[in-house]
Amino acid sequence: MSWFPTATRATMRNKMNFLLGCVLLCSVLLLYLGMNGIDCPRKSHRHRWMELNMASGNQSVPLTEHLPEDTPLIFIGGFPRSGTTLTRVMLDAHNAVRCGEETRVIPRLLAMRATWSRSVKERIRLDEAGVTDQVLDAAVRAFLLEVIVGHGEPAPRLCNKDPFALKSLSYLARIFPKAKFVLMLRDGRATVHSMISRKVTISGFDLTSYRDCLTKWSSALDTMFSQCQAAGEARCLPVRYEQLVLHPEQEMRQLLHFLELQWDSAVLHHEELIGKAGGVSLSRVERSTDQVMKPVNTEALSKWVGNIPPDVINDMAEIAPMLARLGYDPHANPPDYTKLEPMASPFNHLQYFQKQPFLL
Ligand code: A3P
Repeated sequence: MSWFPTATRATMRNKMNFLLGCVLLCSVLLLYLGMNGIDCPRKSHRHRWMELNMASGNQSVPLTEHLPEDTPLIFIGGFPRSGTTLTRVMLDAHNAVRCGEETRVIPRLLAMRATWSRSVKERIRLDEAGVTDQVLDAAVRAFLLEVIVGHGEPAPRLCNKDPFALKSLSYLARIFPKAKFVLMLRDGRATVHSMISRKVTISGFDLTSYRDCLTKWSSALDTMFSQCQAAGEARCLPVRYEQLVLHPEQEMRQLLHFLELQWDSAVLHHEELIGKAGGVSLSRVERSTDQVMKPVNTEALSKWVGNIPPDVINDMAEIAPMLARLGYDPHANPPDYTKLEPMASPFNHLQYFQKQPFLL
């Protein structure tokens, strides 16, 4: 016999049924979500790239088998603070291109690879062990491809932007014979001022000294520009930052033509595609992210004027000989960026390579 009246018992039964129904519904929902999670894990970029490009998502197949060495990769580089991020986001806005964020590991691997060939003793040891140049090049190529494909969205033309990777431009040109290179150039005084004022550390550069930074900027540019010229105009295009921001359409038309890509006006409005699928992906921690979020502008052209010590200004032509070679008047403060001198024509780069034969 129950202590509750019949009406109360009926209400309790209804509540119990309702609760049971809720529990059942939740279980079914959880089961459904769980099964979905098991059946459809989030696909990696590499997986999606393989599906799109070779009608197979088999992750165990080495990429190099399908993406051979004659893949027309695009490498953008130059000295940091030269507009390298701006150029890559403008290209990212193109419907056929994906560059993405700096990988950071690619220039490190290339620098390591250069040291293996530099020492004759080490070279002999490696050869004796069967670790020949051919073996090493295949391994480096595979590493680069995995990183470039795997770190971003799939796209018909893949591109990499790691500024100092172009210190190994000749090597990259050899292991990727169809790759093209975009070397960003900028007035070294502006580049160094940007580095020092924003405290962008680069190993070996003394950020308390304009003289030291300009000397080392010039030497780094010499390395990259010489290799760009040696690669030839069909493989390497130097792009001046000042020209890019003053005449974006003209420069981007020239760049796309060089890359054998169709004109796409989206490249002139990269800021509209930030964060969109197939558009521009930005890192939250890269130094230029806050600046590339803005439309192309000319604000940064002459910020360096008045900030470089007078003794350094007086010795500029000797401290930074690359300024004149790249068409920037070392005695003009600032030069008229609308009327830059032409860059040094392909010069006697043999002289450079005689000093660095391991680059060939
Ligand atoms: P400043 O620091 O002199 O302003 P990088 O990406 O190679 O490090 O280059 C950084 C430089 O690119 C910055 O120089 C910045 O002004 C410039 N830059 C970035 N976004 C830009 C934009 N939307 N328009 C013009 N210049 C831009």
